[in-house]
Amino acid sequence: MSNNKPDDALSEAAIYSVDAYISEDYARAERDKLWRKVWLQAGRVEDLEQVGSYITYEILDDSVLIVRTAPDTLKAYHNVCPHRGRRLVDVPEGERNGSGYMRKLVCGYHGWQFDLDGKNNHIPFREDWGDSLTEACTSLKPVNMDTWSGFIFINLDPNCQPLKDYLEPAASMLEPFQLQNMRCRWRKWGVFDCNWKVAMQAFNETYHVQTTHPEFNQYGSFRGWARAQGELHSNIGYDTPKNMDGNQAAKLRVGEAADPRISTAEMQVYTWEKANTNTTETLVNAAKRLKDELPEGTPATAVLQHWLKSARADDAARGVHWPEVDPKIVGESGTAWQLFPNFQIGHAVNNMLTYQARPHGYDPDKCVFEAAVYELYPEGEEPKPAWKFCPPTEEDWCYVLSQDFGNMAAVQQGMKSAGFHGPKPNPYMERTTAIMHKNLAKFMGEGAPIKLNGDNKPE
Ligand code: FES
Ligand SMILES: [Fe+2]
Repeated sequence: MSNNKPDDALSEAAIYSVDAYISEDYARAERDKLWRKVWLQAGRVEDLEQVGSYITYEILDDSVLIVRTAPDTLKAYHNVCPHRGRRLVDVPEGERNGSGYMRKLVCGYHGWQFDLDGKNNHIPFREDWGDSLTEACTSLKPVNMDTWSGFIFINLDPNCQPLKDYLEPAASMLEPFQLQNMRCRWRKWGVFDCNWKVAMQAFNETYHVQTTHPEFNQYGSFRGWARAQGELHSNIGYDTPKNMDGNQAAKLRVGEAADPRISTAEMQVYTWEKANTNTTETLVNAAKRLKDELPEGTPATAVLQHWLKSARADDAARGVHWPEVDPKIVGESGTAWQLFPNFQIGHAVNNMLTYQARPHGYDPDKCVFEAAVYELYPEGEEPKPAWKFCPPTEEDWCYVLSQDFGNMAAVQQGMKSAGFHGPKPNPYMERTTAIMHKNLAKFMGEGAPIKLNGDNKPE
């Protein structure tokens, strides 16, 4: 399949209703129809270091407690006491989620106790119930949980399909990148003034780059594709520039300006300093050396190959080994995957950037937005950054992300205008957004995109 060929039913121009973004009824319906039916990314395996380590995952009215119950076993439970329904583990005020270590679980209300496997092992004055209390009614209720690529996923639907099946083809196509070996460099979250879909869609296409991030235009113009992947997911990437045959070029956007040695270095330095994502210090330093290591006139493909080879060697020398990934897979996997409904992974062989957004209560105008960057570290040197609460400012998130945030609240408000009929995403570069609505409609029973036909208005 060529990068340039539309490969799904949404290759035609489409339009869809704004209800999914601004309707409170829709936001309420999402709880049962969407959030309680899908696999949700809830944390990283390395967050649960020892037996007894736990984290919580919060999604609207549900809180899930994830615990390491044995050196190689994680389990998830509804975070609620079966006695009278108190949350078992509280999320401390101002924190993203609960986390810590426990030998056993004790409810703070009347003192019911549970072992790490969720089984009740103490009830004060148990005899008062006679023989009415069974193990089933006094144990914690399990939640489906599985891991993939170092991420913990939960699913509130007791009858859900297996995680790996749900994630295909992303699960297989991203497997060679060995994302489970990466560790977090920073992770931030905030409460933003837009629907969770507006936040996710600020990052699921490349069409906005030329206008929202004009600084990147000086490094070359790169047209981006977007494709449906499997039943629910999608991915995006860059078309390979005409004079460049390496698949990796499309992925890494090596500068295609007059002197690719210089533009590659400039783009790397800009990305490192102004976005703080999608690259590593090793890649930046290797790019800075290109003008000394290669003669003037070296073609872009050769510049790219030299740059990656020397960065790979630099990392290997400090004990950081990038996986070898078939160039065909690198090309087809693109730059980022949108895992339905609310998780995006921007993957590479030595780093990744993830975005996630969840509703913030039932206010359709608000969401919890999160981003994290990961890379490969020498063993024993991995940082363990906590989730940092950050308002959507340049100071807190760096310049490039603040450019993206600058659109979010304005889109949320603009979509409420009496003069706006519905989004009309670019059928090639922004198809991911239409794909998301097509898939949302499978769960919600409404809001599927329809063919754009002049100034038509979707129901
Ligand atoms: S609600 Fe937990 S012990 Fe009563
Ligand atoms: Fe952006």
